[in-house]
Parts: sequence; C-alpha cells; structure tokens
Amino acid sequence: MMSVVFWLVLVAVEGTATVDYAWTEMGHNQQIVRVITRDKSCPDINIDGLIQPMKPRSDSPPPNFDIQVCECELPAGAQKVSVGDKTLPVVGKKPKRIAIIGDTGCRILNVPGYEILQNCNGAAGYGTPWPFPAIADAVAAGNPDLIIHLGDYHYRGFPCPQGNKGCAGPAGNNWPAWEADFFAPARNLLPKAPWVFVRGNHESCQRAWLGWFYLLAPGPLSTDPWQPEQCQLVSEPYAVSFDNLKLLVQDSANVPYEPGENGKTAALVAKYAETYNQLNAMASADSDNWFLSHEPIWGIQSATTAKGLLLLQLQLTLQAALKKAQGGAFSPHIGLLLSGHAHLFESFTFRDGRPPMMVVGNSGTKLSPAITPQALAQFKMLEALGVAPDDFTSEDRFGYAFADETPAGRRITLHHLDGTVSRRFLVTDKKLVPQPAK
Ligand SMILES: [Fe+2]
Repeated sequence: MMSVVFWLVLVAVEGTATVDYAWTEMGHNQQIVRVITRDKSCPDINIDGLIQPMKPRSDSPPPNFDIQVCECELPAGAQKVSVGDKTLPVVGKKPKRIAIIGDTGCRILNVPGYEILQNCNGAAGYGTPWPFPAIADAVAAGNPDLIIHLGDYHYRGFPCPQGNKGCAGPAGNNWPAWEADFFAPARNLLPKAPWVFVRGNHESCQRAWLGWFYLLAPGPLSTDPWQPEQCQLVSEPYAVSFDNLKLLVQDSANVPYEPGENGKTAALVAKYAETYNQLNAMASADSDNWFLSHEPIWGIQSATTAKGLLLLQLQLTLQAALKKAQGGAFSPHIGLLLSGHAHLFESFTFRDGRPPMMVVGNSGTKLSPAITPQALAQFKMLEALGVAPDDFTSEDRFGYAFADETPAGRRITLHHLDGTVSRRFLVTDKKLVPQPAK
C-alpha cells in the first residue's frame, strides 16, 4: 500500500502523463506545443531546462473525444523543448525546406447511389491502398524544416459497410476516427518539424469542426466551446513570419460555392473580403509572402457524372470577396497562392499580375478524375480563369511537394508516392517557371 501511495505522489510531483502524440504548430507569430494524453492530468514541458505544467486546451473535451489535449505556447527563441521522452521541434528563422501536403484522409462515403469507399486498411481485394501513411513517412524521410497541411484531414464521415475489410474501422466525429485518419499515420511526421494547419471544408461547422478546434486549430477556444453555435464560420486570419518568408493563413472551410443573393452569403462575402484586407495588410515588403487557403480562389474542380467528366471553376464566392476587398486584388508582395480541395495537383501562372496558384490536394484521399485537354476546351475553363494553356499543369497521381530555398528563389518539387520527381517549378516574379525534373 505504501509503495502505491509513494508512486502516486511521485507521478503528481513529476507531472508525468502518458503522451500518445506530441507536436509543435504555428499560430499567429507563435509556436505552440500540443500533446494528446488519455490521462486526467497534463504532463510537464521542459523548455530550455525550465520545467512547467502544460495546460488543458479546454475544461472538457468535445463529446466522443475520450482524450485530453494539453498545450503550451513557446517563448520566442526557445531552443530545446521536450515532454517526457519526446523531443519537440522548434522552428528556425529561415526554414529552408518546407513540405506541402493536402487532403489526406481516407474517404468513407456511404450514401446510396453515391459510394466512395477507400481501402483505408490496405486489405487485399479492396483497390488501391489509402496512401497517406506512406506519404507521411516519405515526407518525414525528406527532413522538412516546416510542414504545411492545406486542409481536409477527416474523411471518415460514414460507417464502413459491414463486411468491407478495406474501410473497416472507426468513423464519425470522434477521436478514434481522427486518430485513424490523421494522427496514427502521421505518427512519425508529427514530431519532425513544426506544422502549419489550414482548415478544410471537411472541418466545417457541418462536419468535423469539433476535432478541428480541439486538436489542430491554433487559436484559443471560447468558453463552452462545444455548443454548435460556438463553431466559427471564419476564424481570424493570421500570419506565420520568418526572416525569408511570411505565410498568410485564411480559413475558407465554410465558403459556399457561389456567392448567392441572400443576406447570409452576402455577410460571408463581406467577411472574406475583410480577411483579404487583413492578410494583405500583413504581407511584408521584406520577405516572400505565400497565401494559404484550403479552397483555391482560382482552380479547377473535376468530377465524374452520368454525362461524363465535369469541370467546375473555383471559387466563385472567394473571387467575389476579393473583388470587394480594398484594391480588389492580392497585395503585390504576395508571390504564391497555395490551396488544396481539388484532389489533384494543379498549377497556374497568370499573366495579369495575379500571384501564381498551386493546388496540392493529392496527398491521400481518393483522387478526382484527370483534367483532360478535351474537357478544358469543352468547358472553356482556362479562358474563364484567364490562363494560357502553357501556364497550366495538372496531375491525377498521389503525391506531396517540397519547397526548397535556392539562390534563385523557392524551388517546388512535386513527388509521386514512390518518391520519384514528377515536376519542378521555380517560384519567381509572379510565375511558376517549370524546371527540369531530373
Ligand atoms: Fe476540401
């Protein structure tokens, strides 16, 4: 009995807790360490030798999240950070190698007449295995200094049909589904480098917002945060600043496809216009500036319908909002737009002064159909987007990207699942200039 009491006291004094996952993420010019534990108490964090308790992210977790998220904001200049035996990465002033992924979860859509059941478990006979676990490991092996996830983490919205060994497992707005879709496959990647998490439409107020705000959103929570009316439609925009690069992050999770005429969408357009004003004002004249938003303001969505391949222009509400912003355009300091959402790789260079646009939405979830030259011509898509045919590329293969600093500018390399390089671009002077892939 004595030894049990002594052990309990020791645990309380040392502030240990079983840490299942630990990572560093970027908020508005701040670094935050988060951990997930199944214990009631939060562990201590060691920041450059100073030991302090981490704080619970909220008084209680959302329903069906039988875990605790603990967090601690790092002071500027923190060098050595650990929680228990886990060392946490801290960001440098000039990240040289930035990994870019998007749309990673395993799709379980089980609606009569519209079924998409990915092979989450890699079971034989259930089609191409969901590739995010392999992609996460490949990105970790590439030793990034920073990792950008462009949104859409949670795809297990519906229960897998009974007897399907490919998608059998957790589903719904709960911790086991989040763990299976993101945390478990990213186990090796999570502690590799600090993350910038962009919110996707799968994390909207209609879908997986509880997990988004509890686990990944960088901002503070409101009191009583799990009441549905507390879900923020548009979170505060923020900047992540380095000496050589500024990332400007917009939340487009709840954006409707078209602006529409009713008061609700008009209010949303005004809100997004405000975020463009805020983020344009944060763009720095002294560094590169990249604008991150899950939904591409200029992009192409492809879908298979009964009538064949359909192409849709993205994103009409955001376009309307940018027109309403001051100057009706991105700041001239912004040199690249990064998005996901379309489950492909896409790149666009515009010849009218708009920043070039890259879509990396091919890092795990079921791919969209390939954009064919015939469909581009049929839907006059490049004309609608104001892009010359030579200035557009797309790929319908799984992959991820690395953006490396070079003397000539950032070089973005697109990798396939097996690591082979499929494309390279130099980001310079408002263009994505193709480079030899070898
Ligand atoms: Fe999306």
